[in-house]
Amino acid sequence: MQTRQIGPFQVSAVSLGCMNLSHAYGKPPTREQGERVLLAALDAGVTMFDTAALYGFGANETLLGQVLASHRSRFTLASKGGMGGVQFPEGIRRVIDGRPESIRKHCEDSLRRLQTDVIDLYYLHRWDKKVPIEDSVGAMSDLVRAGKVRTLGLSEVSAVTLRKAHAVHPIAAVQSEYSLWTRNPEIAVLQACRDIGAAFVAFSPVARGFLCDAVPDVSVFEPKDIRAAMPRFFPDNYAANLKLLTPYKALAQEVGCTPAQLALAWLLHKAPHIIPIPGTTSETHVRENLAAADIRLGAGLLARLEALINHSTVSGHRYAEQGRVEVDTEDF
Ligand SMILES: NC(=O)c1ccc[n+]([C@@H]2O[C@H](COP(=O)([O-])OP(=O)(O)OC[C@H]3O[C@@H](n4cnc5c(N)ncnc54)[C@H](OP(=O)(O)O)[C@@H]3O)[C@@H](O)[C@H]2O)c1
Repeated sequence: MQTRQIGPFQVSAVSLGCMNLSHAYGKPPTREQGERVLLAALDAGVTMFDTAALYGFGANETLLGQVLASHRSRFTLASKGGMGGVQFPEGIRRVIDGRPESIRKHCEDSLRRLQTDVIDLYYLHRWDKKVPIEDSVGAMSDLVRAGKVRTLGLSEVSAVTLRKAHAVHPIAAVQSEYSLWTRNPEIAVLQACRDIGAAFVAFSPVARGFLCDAVPDVSVFEPKDIRAAMPRFFPDNYAANLKLLTPYKALAQEVGCTPAQLALAWLLHKAPHIIPIPGTTSETHVRENLAAADIRLGAGLLARLEALINHSTVSGHRYAEQGRVEVDTEDF
């Protein structure tokens, strides 16, 4: 099993993002299927599981707690606070809240749902720009001192924000979107992580299903499928993007791997501090994704891949304008 370093932990080079066991891409799987996927991942050698208070508004952490608590010593547990579901008269809505008192509460709630005494890697899910990053990270460092979390991470921050946070408490990992079609971290964050000794955890590494065998059909998205609001999946852009897939799949065939494996192997070749966390609802895909760590890509192939799919060949922004204001936009 190939491993990579994240803070003091050695984790499987391809780890598991658990979000879509509870929400995101169409109807989530049944609880029983979620359990099968988590246990298959553990059996196959996945040693880092990534969740968040946000996913399923707590349901994802609850699932992990119920299924994995009895195996707690076998894996690194990563979760996130600072963003979660808040009940409004019209229903539950996602709210970013990085106030120190909120972070303390989010962490207590996560520990309870996860049925554990300590979270190994605790991320600030988004920087709440109404709160200085130093204050949010200061509250998180209190959690480390109290023994409730072991290491700290940040998600979707710029290099500037990362360095400010790191001056308050060592940051073990940054988690941001990174894949062949989303290259923002190449601007500055990948290098900043290298400089401070942090791992870079790549989310949505197979482009939310786009760089896979069964390409999403945008005409039949479930109403709650978050891709329906993402410009790259809007019909005109998507039609243009689909044209990239024929040569992409030909490259995968040349390597002798699946399209999803090629996307993951590319990330692993970019730098040794990168750890992709693909999400899946399928046990077969868990094993397929893990095997990507054994694929070797030559320099020529890497260059052809990068020339084929990059910011200038992909149509559409990754988030709609409204969504983009919710993330740290300094790197866009
Ligand atoms: N920090 C953040 O703000 C943030 C944001 C988004 C995601 N994340 C984390 O990153 C994780 C992964 O990101 P993601 O789920 O958004 O995107 P992703 O991993 O790029 O894509 C997931 C999609 O790809 C499909 N897929 C995965 N492996 C496949 C394979 N081998 N063959 C065919 N299809 C495959 C899945 O379908 P199947 O179910 O059919 O396999 C699913 O629809 C999440 O679970 C979450 O933990 C973090």
